[in-house]
Amino acid sequence: MLKIGVLGAGSMGSGIAQVASQCGHEVVLCDTNAVQLEKAQSGLAKTLEKLVEKEKISAADSQSIQNRIQYANSVSEFEKCDLIIEAIIENLEIKKTVFSQLESIVSETCILASNTSSLSIASIAAACKKPERVIGIHFFNPAPLMPFLEIIPAVQTSEATTKKSRELIDSWKKITVLTKDTPGFIVNRVARPFYGEALRIYEEGIADFATIDWAMTELGGFKMGPFTLMDYIGNDVNYAVTESVFASFYYDPKFKPSLTQKRHSEAGWFGRKSGRGYYDYSKDAVLPEPKRDLELGQQIFSRILIMLINEAADAVFLNIASVKDVDLAMTKGVNYPKGLLQWANELGPQNVLTQLDALYDEYREDRYRASVLLRRKAQAGQAF
Ligand SMILES: NC(=O)c1ccc[n+]([C@@H]2O[C@H](COP(=O)([O-])OP(=O)(O)OC[C@H]3O[C@@H](n4cnc5c(N)ncnc54)[C@H](O)[C@@H]3O)[C@@H](O)[C@H]2O)c1
Repeated sequence: MLKIGVLGAGSMGSGIAQVASQCGHEVVLCDTNAVQLEKAQSGLAKTLEKLVEKEKISAADSQSIQNRIQYANSVSEFEKCDLIIEAIIENLEIKKTVFSQLESIVSETCILASNTSSLSIASIAAACKKPERVIGIHFFNPAPLMPFLEIIPAVQTSEATTKKSRELIDSWKKITVLTKDTPGFIVNRVARPFYGEALRIYEEGIADFATIDWAMTELGGFKMGPFTLMDYIGNDVNYAVTESVFASFYYDPKFKPSLTQKRHSEAGWFGRKSGRGYYDYSKDAVLPEPKRDLELGQQIFSRILIMLINEAADAVFLNIASVKDVDLAMTKGVNYPKGLLQWANELGPQNVLTQLDALYDEYREDRYRASVLLRRKAQAGQAF
């Protein structure tokens, strides 16, 4: 059985270590911050205790899952690992330094993976002497519960590294898709309009946060509305990903960040974690009521949905992933109620295109330009 190293014991690293240990691997979980390591260890004990209470695992299982994890404050403990998954701060320069340091410790055959949400795997790999052993393995939060992962080979990654990584993760009973090493990969690219178009609708004064969230949950069937979700993720984190994706796409207007979100982030209104975001989370605060206007709600939902479909179509057009994998990514990675391209087929590609072209004609902004693939499907009368 492979020995797994996890670097970074934050929200992601601690979850990834749990998954690997539950699947029977010896795990070394390393963090330079002793407090984080202690938090990860006590957090895991609590999580497993709950699983024992619910009779999902036995007390003996819980003990062996905990025993298989070694907590370390130095990467030198990774020496005997066969795969390292890095989950430290989302900063390219820091990740590059760490990868080059890891290479001087591990064996010649050890695979080095990054859990980055948006950074270039090719850049991280370039910091290594053996870039062919570097790959992206992108878990979703919380790692033990989310069934889906993106596997991202860089241009330098060898086929053997990709095959071995994918086989391993598949053996953990997770659903994996291969995606191209492009900003935001599949999920964090295709999902941008869920936030961006919602913010734009608010900025134009069409509706308030609560009404937009109501339209997306009640009429759209999404589990959370965009503003509730941004408050959950953290406006600082979500804004940083948006800005990084925008810059990485050479400032394509489709991915332009929103000043509203920037101001919320600057104000420290991060969301749930700071007690205030788009909504007030203080003890006695009352959440605002939406305006339950069906016509307005449908207009909001349709506008966000066609923008999401357009992005999904463009991801297929640019060979980021297949139709099947894009739909799988959005339903399993972020719990969308339906695959976006299946949704496009149900609405009819021509119908989606007509609505998008109407926005483009009205606004004259590149943000609303239709994907060539959507236009081709509509013109040919074909489904995705
Ligand atoms: N939070 C999410 O929803 C999510 C989802 C998918 C991927 N990611 C990615 O996973 C990575 C980690 O995110 P997170 O949310 O777990 O962050 P986090 O802030 O919760 O945890 C990061 C941990 O890394 C440690 N760390 C920082 N530098 C280190 C170093 N040089 N050596 C060892 N430990 C170091 C910190 O002490 C901290 O415990 C990021 O690249 C992020 O983009 C996050």
